[in-house]
Amino acid sequence: MNINMNPNSELHQSVVTVPNVVQVPEALVSQAAEFKAAIMMYTCAIREVKTKLEVLNDELSVRNQRNPIEMIKSRVKKPMSIVEKLRRRDLPVSLESMMDHLDDVAGIRVICSFVDDIYSIAHMLVSQDDITVIATKDYIKNPKPNGYRSYHLIIEIPVFFSHEKKNMRVEVQIRTIAMDFWASLDHQLKYKKEAHGDSDEISEELRQCAEIIALTDQKMLQIRKNIEAKGGTVKK
Ligand code: GTP
Ligand code: MG
Repeated sequence: MNINMNPNSELHQSVVTVPNVVQVPEALVSQAAEFKAAIMMYTCAIREVKTKLEVLNDELSVRNQRNPIEMIKSRVKKPMSIVEKLRRRDLPVSLESMMDHLDDVAGIRVICSFVDDIYSIAHMLVSQDDITVIATKDYIKNPKPNGYRSYHLIIEIPVFFSHEKKNMRVEVQIRTIAMDFWASLDHQLKYKKEAHGDSDEISEELRQCAEIIALTDQKMLQIRKNIEAKGGTVKK
């Protein structure tokens, strides 16, 4: 079924709204109504987690006179990407399969100011008693071989609907501005690299850039700590 592409499915900073038109891939047409309902549920789960993060940011900004969170972006995975991922993993293309096997249908990216903010925010979020941690991946302590750094959480959160409570899965990626800068450009270059032959030299250069950025993150944190040690506040 070829209906409008949904512009809301990109990562966005605006209020999280349930898309009016959900593109239903051919493979899921027989479950179209349930698929639309599921996308609505994932959108609501994003809204819940986003609110929790905004509350933490507000509280911490009053307490410490600076915002630990620079920006929050979110997206619901595009329907075609859902189908492609299920096929890539040799999983059945069905609603049940999507809900059981895909952890990143709902995705939130939290961009923090400093590296220690990442761990504070992650800790505060997972300590909340309605959040269940499904998985944690610390690509900051253990960067990927290509240099990718971020802190990933797969969490489950209960969302209350009219007649039921659904535990919804959300992927939360937490990173600094610098890590986000690298990951965004790496993502942009991915398609160009693939088209022009991904050479070892390019990969090595990108890895080196990631190292330099990580050192800069460490340095910025040190500068902030030095200012704080002298009794100063780092205000936004
Ligand atoms: P996916 O099938 O891609 O979800 O992999 P996974 O389930 O093994 O999870 P992983 O933690 O490797 O990656 C999850 C997400 O992190 C990806 O969908 C990207 O958004 C991001 N990510 C992981 N590795 C990279 C990378 O090398 N570069 C960039 N730009 N983003 C990455
Ligand atoms: Mg993913």
